[in-house]
Formats: sequence, structure tokens, C-alpha cells
Amino acid sequence: MSDKHLLKQTLHAVMNGYRRHPADHHRPHWHLSPVVGLMNDPNGFIQFQGRYHLFYQWNPLACDHSTKFWGHWSSTDLINWQHEPVALMPSDSFDIDGCFSGSAVDDNGQLVLVYTGNVMLDNDDRTAWQCIARQNEQGEFDKQAVLGQLQGYTGHIRDPKVWRHEESWYMVLAAQDLQLRGKVLLLKSPDLASWTLLGEIAGSQLRDVGTFGYMWECPDLFNLDGHDVLISCPQGVDAEERRYLNQYQCGYLLGELDYQKGDYPHGPFLELDYGHEFYAPQTTLSDDGRRLLVGWMGVPDQDEFSQPTLKHGWLHMMSCPRELSVREGQLYQVPARELVALRTAGQQAEGRADSLPVFSADSAELLLQVAGSFEIDIGETLWLKCDPDGITLSRKGLSSPDEERRYWSGAVEKLQILLDSSSIEIFINDGAGVMTSRYFPEERPELRFSGSATLTVDYWQLRDSE
Ligand code: FRU
Repeated sequence: MSDKHLLKQTLHAVMNGYRRHPADHHRPHWHLSPVVGLMNDPNGFIQFQGRYHLFYQWNPLACDHSTKFWGHWSSTDLINWQHEPVALMPSDSFDIDGCFSGSAVDDNGQLVLVYTGNVMLDNDDRTAWQCIARQNEQGEFDKQAVLGQLQGYTGHIRDPKVWRHEESWYMVLAAQDLQLRGKVLLLKSPDLASWTLLGEIAGSQLRDVGTFGYMWECPDLFNLDGHDVLISCPQGVDAEERRYLNQYQCGYLLGELDYQKGDYPHGPFLELDYGHEFYAPQTTLSDDGRRLLVGWMGVPDQDEFSQPTLKHGWLHMMSCPRELSVREGQLYQVPARELVALRTAGQQAEGRADSLPVFSADSAELLLQVAGSFEIDIGETLWLKCDPDGITLSRKGLSSPDEERRYWSGAVEKLQILLDSSSIEIFINDGAGVMTSRYFPEERPELRFSGSATLTVDYWQLRDSE
């Protein structure tokens, strides 16, 4: 047996033998997290022949970013996921320093992954190959580099997201031009192997975007409710008082893609999430026509090595799967409807916030009808303050004693809150705003309301996924 096969089989055995450590109360009950090592971006999200597949950036060897494999889960219901053998390992000259992020397509009944091969050069420089990996009859992926370094760009060129439109394949690709401005490129191919650059469709100093970042990572473009939505993650955007507060940003544009001209007139950059940890989301179209999204509950270079799960040998988790829509000029996100099946014992309460019972917040869902100002304390580590201006979400600092605050502005009428050990996802006003954050309570957390607002609460404990 080759070394490669042996390593793949060993990793698969480790994944399937994994049991939650009883002392590790930050391990999620039903969100996806890596068995060991560091996980970052979701990759290759697709419903293929009826089954959902979600790949992910994974370093199984250490809790750092030194190497990147593609891990692989699959599911029929978006709740219960099974470990599949590792899909990609950085073992070829064209991906030796990492099988970086990318997507998956169904090429006439064959599952094909499209990803970036990262190759480090001398002086910390790098080059990149865009690669495809076709699934063979044994279920393994045969890799091939199809596109080398593009003229006019630095080696920071990665994260292909590919889709089919009419008779051709199209790709959006993150790139950095020679003036170190972040750009999103559009490319076209008849066969996934030969690619033609159509042009730059968005980025720093394009249209009226102004100077806005040195790299726009992980682009994703799709048509939804009459708009072409371009999601991307700009790096190098200055923080403002109440926005762009994470190390790197994640947001979207609404526009109309001209496939012939490679032109994309679009509106302003809008944030996709207002919490502490959300990055590199990826979407797919389900068989029943829903645009689904999964994001990474992490941000590169943002306090990740202060997270206490490090002592249990793992870092980061995925967001829950979400359904997207566009209404009134903005993107809405709600938890995928499948998640309702996680609900177990329910409870209802109504009255002044400070008269409501204390709830277990370890693995729970709350629906709140809101009128007035109130606060929620979760595990004495995370605080949600709701007043007429909007929401302030504060958490105990990870690497400093200062509280870290994030904001959503607007009148709050409804909240849907998902809690899972060390994460919170807050869907505001049916998904008009979302705040996604990690937090690390010392024990299994409780949730306490205070304030004079009148609230109606529907509460459920959520069961573990299988
Ligand atoms: C985003 C990112 C991508 C890259 C990958 C490497 O988090 O930096 O641009 O492909 O992670 O793991």
C-alpha cells in the first residue's frame, strides 16, 4: 500500500474512532467541527446525486495553518453528517504547500472538485495553480493542475468557485493585482480544463468601491431572487466605529452579471454577518431550489490561538446551514428548515424580561418577540443588549481583559437564537441581520434575561446530531 493510502486510511480510522472528551464542554453538540487539528473554510458544498457533501480546509496534523488537506463530510439531511475519507492531500508539486479552498460541480454525473494548489517560493513569495480533481470509481479524487499563474497578478490568486451557465462553466477567483489591490476575476471554460479570463468583475478601486482591501478571498457568485449576488471576504479594510470590526470582513454585492462582456454593475458592499466570527462562506443550490450557505465560524489571524479548545487538540467550527433570499435590496439568512428536527423539550414564557426563568444555554434555540430594551447574559461570558438603536453583542475578550463588542443597528422585533456549547447565531427580524460568534464559558452556560421589556419566549433544548 502506498504511503498516501496508508495516511488516508489512518486519518479515516482516527475520525471514526473519535469520542467526545467529557471535559471538553466547548465541543459542539450538532455543529460540524474537526475531530483533531484546525478547520477553516467550507469547500465544495454540493448536493450530488441526492446527498449533501461538504468538504473543508483541514490541517489534521496540528492546530495551525501549516498544511491544508480537504476533509469531507456527507449527509442526507443537513443535520447528521458522516465522515468520508480525506478528499485531497497536498502531495503533488502543484499543491505541495496546501490544497487551498475551492468548490465542487457535477460534470455530467461525475463529482469534480476545483481548488487552488498553493506553492511557496523563496523569500516567502508564492505561486498558485488552479486545479481540478475528478472522482474516480473508487471514490478517490484524481488531481490535475489546469491553470497557472496569471499575468498581471501576484501569487495571491485562489479560491475558485465554479458554476454552469447555459453551455459553459464559469469561475470567480480571488486575485491581487500588481498594485496589491484585491480583485474578483471572472473566467470561462468549455470543459473545466482550459480557462479564459473574461475580466475583473469587482474589487478595490473598481467602479466606485474606493480603496477597499488588498485581497478579496473566497468569492461566490449566484443568481437569487432576480439578483446576481457576489459574496467575498475583503482583507485590509479599515475598521469603523460600528462596522468592519473583525480582522477581515465578509460581505456581498448585489448586481447584474453580463456574461458576454464579463461586466458586473453592482451596488455597495454590505456586511453578511455582524458577529465576531464569520468568514469564507460558501453556497450551493439544493435539489429543491434553495440557495444554502455554510460559513466558517472563525476569522484568519483573529485571536484563534487564544481559544481554549486548543488544549483539547481542535480549533474552529462551521456555522449552521442557512437558507438565503434577497428582499428589499438585501440578503436574508435563516437557519435551514431541516434544523427544526433538532428540537426536543419545549417551553414557553412571557412577561417582563427580569421575571423570566433561567434557561440552559448549552444546546438550545430561542424565538423571541421583542418590545422594549433588555439584556441577556449567557454564561457570564457573552452579553446581548437590545435597545431602540439595535443590538450590542459583547464577549469576554479572548486575549485581553477588554470586552469585545459587535453591533447591529435597527429596530429589533424578533430574534431567533441558536446556541451550541461555544457558539451563538442570532437571526434578527427573520434574517435581515445575523450575528455569529464563538464564546467560551467556564461551565455549561445558563441564559438569564434582565430589563423591563415585555418578551415572549419559545425555547427548545436541541438534541445532539448523530
Ligand atoms: C480563507 C483562506 C483562503 C485559502 C484558505 C487556506 O480563510 O485564506 O483564501 O484558500 O483559507 O486555508
